[in-house]
Amino acid sequence: MKIMVIQGPNLNMLGLREQNIYGPMKLEDIHEQMEGFAKQANIEIEFFQSNLEGEIVDKIQECLGVCDGIILNAAAYTHTSIAIADAIRAVQIPTVEVHISNIHAREEYRHKSLIAPHCAGQITGFGPFSYHLAMVAMSQILTEIQAMKQAENQAGEQN
Ligand code: DQA
Repeated sequence: MKIMVIQGPNLNMLGLREQNIYGPMKLEDIHEQMEGFAKQANIEIEFFQSNLEGEIVDKIQECLGVCDGIILNAAAYTHTSIAIADAIRAVQIPTVEVHISNIHAREEYRHKSLIAPHCAGQITGFGPFSYHLAMVAMSQILTEIQAMKQAENQAGEQN
């Protein structure tokens, strides 16, 4: 089982950027923790960060047939990007939406996520720990997919 972690614009600035909102942790440190979780859960994991909307769309499309799940913090594009929302709809790969800050407790323009309706769920507001919670959610989703596939295979063998 393989998952892709996609990080949107300005998340490469974590650790420097608005520490009062996002805290002092760097993106590399968050990824290191996720890698540790993935190892223990026997999940293959890859990371991608881009400040460009089109590159994020490309990466989501590349996941088709390659990844079983996506963890996505589309950052500011969460609130604006029909293209990213459409890409998630198109690939139909289970996606967990993540935010470090609680987008619902911030400016009104951050309350709406165009991506949320196409995701398995949204985790928002737990600081960098949001990514850990996303890993827990994703490993549960992958377990369910595996169980479903096994049941399908068994049913196929009986027919
Ligand atoms: C964010 C929330 C977004 O509103 C913001 O534009 C970000 C980060 C978060 O993780 O809290 O860049 O996605």
